[in-house]
Amino acid sequence: MLPRHVAIIMDGNGRWAKKNALSVAFGHRKGVEALREIIRYSSDIGIEVLSLFAFSTENWNRSKQEVNALMQLILEYFNSEIDELNENNVRIRILGDIFGLPQNQRETVQASMDTTADNTGMQLNIALNYGGKDEILGAVKTISKHVLENKISVDDIDETMFEKYLYTAGQPSVDLLIRTSGEMRISNFMLYQCAYAEMLFPKTLWPDYTVEDYKGDLQAFSKRERRFGGRKS
Ligand code: FPP
Repeated sequence: MLPRHVAIIMDGNGRWAKKNALSVAFGHRKGVEALREIIRYSSDIGIEVLSLFAFSTENWNRSKQEVNALMQLILEYFNSEIDELNENNVRIRILGDIFGLPQNQRETVQASMDTTADNTGMQLNIALNYGGKDEILGAVKTISKHVLENKISVDDIDETMFEKYLYTAGQPSVDLLIRTSGEMRISNFMLYQCAYAEMLFPKTLWPDYTVEDYKGDLQAFSKRERRFGGRKS
């Protein structure tokens, strides 16, 4: 069976660059090429939601040069891809605090969400300035405010309500999490949404990850037996 929601941690751009004696910025650029193919294929086969970790709240700690390169790439990506994504009926949502992004990037990503808001095809979530703990704390704060303002009562708080306060409101939970490069961590990505996600950790570095690799991972997912805490009857 096809997963409804696939989340990907595109890891290994830096190691790919080092291996090929290239700059880390070039590694990220190759990473964008890889993601273009994965997005296209996911949309073609009918994945409902694809979530990509592009920039974490911790990535600001990298060198100024690398942060600038990533910010520049994000700008270029949205400017060059928006028309094709829109034609393919893809709806874009940014996961993360876009107010922490530079103005140019913020306006560009906001425009991409506005342009594609009415599309009905694949939901493409791009996590920018995103942290899973941050997302959960943000939801707790807003819910607390709404309780204090008597908009909701404490007894109303259940999973269905809590999920409405997350960036992924209205979307299904993650079925499959893929992290490339062999690292086996989720690094603060979609902590709540991955509660029952199946996880795959292919060794391939992200710039080398192809649609063929992805097909293999989707195949591996289809063989997993999912019990969601229950027992096979
Ligand atoms: C991890 O590789 C990757 C990132 C921190 C950034 C991922 C970003 C992109 C693929 C491009 C930007 C995205 C969009 C949507 C335009 P790493 O640098 O941590 O690799 P390493 O662990 O080998 O150093």
